[in-house]
Amino acid sequence: MILNVYEQKKPFYLYTGRGPSSEAMHMGHLIPFIFTKWLQDTFDVPLVIQLTDDEKFLWKDLTLEQTNHLAFENAKDIIACGFDVEKTFIFSDLDFLTNSPAFYRTICRIQKLVTYNQVKGIFGFTDSDSIGKISFPAIQAAPSFSCMFPEIFNGRSDIPCLIPCAIDQDPYFRMTRDVAPRMGCLKPALIHSTFFPALQGAQTKMSASDPNSSIFVTDTDEEIKDKINKYAFSGGGATVEEHKTKGGNCEVDVSYQYLTFFMEDDQRLEEIRMAYTSGELMTGSLKKELIDILQKMVGEHRQRREAVTDEVVRQFMKPRKLKYDYPAL
Ligand code: TYM
Repeated sequence: MILNVYEQKKPFYLYTGRGPSSEAMHMGHLIPFIFTKWLQDTFDVPLVIQLTDDEKFLWKDLTLEQTNHLAFENAKDIIACGFDVEKTFIFSDLDFLTNSPAFYRTICRIQKLVTYNQVKGIFGFTDSDSIGKISFPAIQAAPSFSCMFPEIFNGRSDIPCLIPCAIDQDPYFRMTRDVAPRMGCLKPALIHSTFFPALQGAQTKMSASDPNSSIFVTDTDEEIKDKINKYAFSGGGATVEEHKTKGGNCEVDVSYQYLTFFMEDDQRLEEIRMAYTSGELMTGSLKKELIDILQKMVGEHRQRREAVTDEVVRQFMKPRKLKYDYPAL
């Protein structure tokens, strides 16, 4: 779909989001945003970013004030990924819903088409879940439809939407794609980024409440070094001898897996894979490669985030027309 609309210069927009449940975002959260920035730069299209402070209020032990504050703070990390203010609208559900009739109307249209039985099947809700949780999926679905943003799309409801995210968000958009034709709207297209594993391995989960489960954008150089050396699950041999004879297993080695996300030079990555698999490269040296890359990436992110003032966040969050190059609109 992307190439098709690109070649024909047909308009489309990007939609992604973040559930602000903690101050610090981990590297996994950043993956879809880094990818979204690439898509925005490459295709030169408008982007909307939803901050679901309402979702986190409903699911976590947090007040409305806390999740709304976290949305504002997370917006700084998102902006630090380098989005273009002229082409990007970031909104908190709690703030935008109070002054956007089009948002609420789109939600109502979705809610009317989805039964309790369907959301129970998709999300696993039980009878003791709050009605807030049960109705929330319609709020995450709504920005997939351009009619929700009359200030951006001049009231057009036929602008296709592309959603970059990871697989954990798929249930929301399976529901969205199901209701779209019944609303007379276009189905959004999805593009999934690979799931970034926890330091302890793909079988474990990254959690904001366990600082050792991942690298966070707030980690210092020293913390990055310690966490990778201590916690990154190794596919290397148990002893130097064993490693040299049997080699390392890149399939399960978390440091290698992280390098596949962040090492720009594919040829170097392949050299590392071969040297590690043959046992020539030791785990410590592999980890060192990763530590250097992560310290640089996180350090640069930290600097860019420091430059994002409250005023900059307010500019991104102001409902307004976005700049794009489609004469038909
Ligand atoms: P949240 O805050 O849990 O996650 C934000 C984004 O990060 C992705 N993600 C990951 N990507 C790679 N590896 C991981 N380990 C990893 N963990 C999380 C998520 O898929 C997401 O793209 N309900 C949503 C917020 C939301 C949203 C959206 C997300 C609202 N509208 C539209 C994507 C698209 C949430 O809580 O995301």
